[in-house]
Amino acid sequence: MAILLTSTVVVALAPLLVYLWPAAPKGQRKQVLTVTLDTPIDQLSDGQAVKFNAPASPDSAFIMADGGGDNAAGDLAFGGFVVKNQGKVDVFAINCSHLGCSIALNTDAKTFDCPCHGSRFHLDGTVLRGPAQAPLSHLTWKQGSDPSSIQVDGLTLGF
Ligand code: FES
Repeated sequence: MAILLTSTVVVALAPLLVYLWPAAPKGQRKQVLTVTLDTPIDQLSDGQAVKFNAPASPDSAFIMADGGGDNAAGDLAFGGFVVKNQGKVDVFAINCSHLGCSIALNTDAKTFDCPCHGSRFHLDGTVLRGPAQAPLSHLTWKQGSDPSSIQVDGLTLGF
């Protein structure tokens, strides 16, 4: 009788436990990704930014820390920018908050410009001109072992 009762409870609770604590998506593993920058952080001048991409071997992506518009915390980004602005260093996902196109640095205007529909962002990530309504998304990062590397929260894909 005890075995029958125990089996019934286990069978009844299993779907609930799987719902509450789902397994990680197959083929994805959270990982801190080390990225080498073309320009070390300590050599960035004010108003300068350096682009970087997620490591390709194995396939990787960064995880957005926040978001608005088309971007949300937890969304994936395959590139980003480290920018030094008024002495502060920020790291942004490359995705425009309008519909997700990759932004580019406009070195003359010192803005991030989106080639798709013309949105522009200040170097602090706030919107200068729409149609984007929300600021750029940050990435969670810290300095690597030297000024030319950073460590960014991300995922490895398809292992
Ligand atoms: S996707 Fe950037 S302005 Fe539309």
